[in-house]
Amino acid sequence: MTITAILSALAEEQQGLLELLQQPRKSSHAGRDFWQGRLHGQPVVLALSRIGKVAAATTSTALIERFNVGRIVFTGVAGGLGDGVQVGDVVVATEFVQHDLDASPIFPRYEVPLYGRTRFPCDAALTARLLQASRAGLEGLALPAKTLLHHGLMASGDRFVSGMQESRNLRTALKQGGHEVLAVEMEGAAVAQVCFDYGLPFAAVRTISDRADDTAHVDFPVFVKDVASLYAQAIVRHLLEAL
Ligand code: ADE
Repeated sequence: MTITAILSALAEEQQGLLELLQQPRKSSHAGRDFWQGRLHGQPVVLALSRIGKVAAATTSTALIERFNVGRIVFTGVAGGLGDGVQVGDVVVATEFVQHDLDASPIFPRYEVPLYGRTRFPCDAALTARLLQASRAGLEGLALPAKTLLHHGLMASGDRFVSGMQESRNLRTALKQGGHEVLAVEMEGAAVAQVCFDYGLPFAAVRTISDRADDTAHVDFPVFVKDVASLYAQAIVRHLLEAL
């Protein structure tokens, strides 16, 4: 059976999954804890990416090299950037771009040097399943009717975006480069690139914790503490049951 890695950025997001893990076995490697076990009938490894692209790349590489995972699924939170992407909505990624990557004029803005590409895709089949699981998970949570499920491009960078002007500038610059992004976070593009290198399926879902604006630093911790884990549990359960 293919082992599924479930990556979260923060312990608060992972907590609920950890409590449900059966036959849990913890190992430490590269300064990180990896939890092997079974979840909803599937063999899994739960791990924390930590925060930022380099940390996420290290965790992803360890999962592949050491723990023999066959797919990686990321659950976490993100700041909403696109029109109509509101706090409490859910975004399933189809592709990732690194908004802070700029090797111009040697390479075009946002292009990852020597890959000849600016975007790294998520796996289409796994993403379709994650989208379906997110739909089912949201229905089960009985959220307000205005809660929306989006899917599309996500941007990652080593920066917590927490200002109205900053988020506008980011969105405008990305748009000029041809990238209409729905949400911004700090890890997904790195995991997508590692999975691309190893030829492993990757999918990612993020609940919107803030609008990357002047109140983002207040909205984010409240959301992470009170809500993020519930979304992750519901979506992961539906996904694993469908695999
Ligand atoms: N993750 C959640 N909110 C974020 C934000 N505003 N910027 C970057 N990463 C985030």
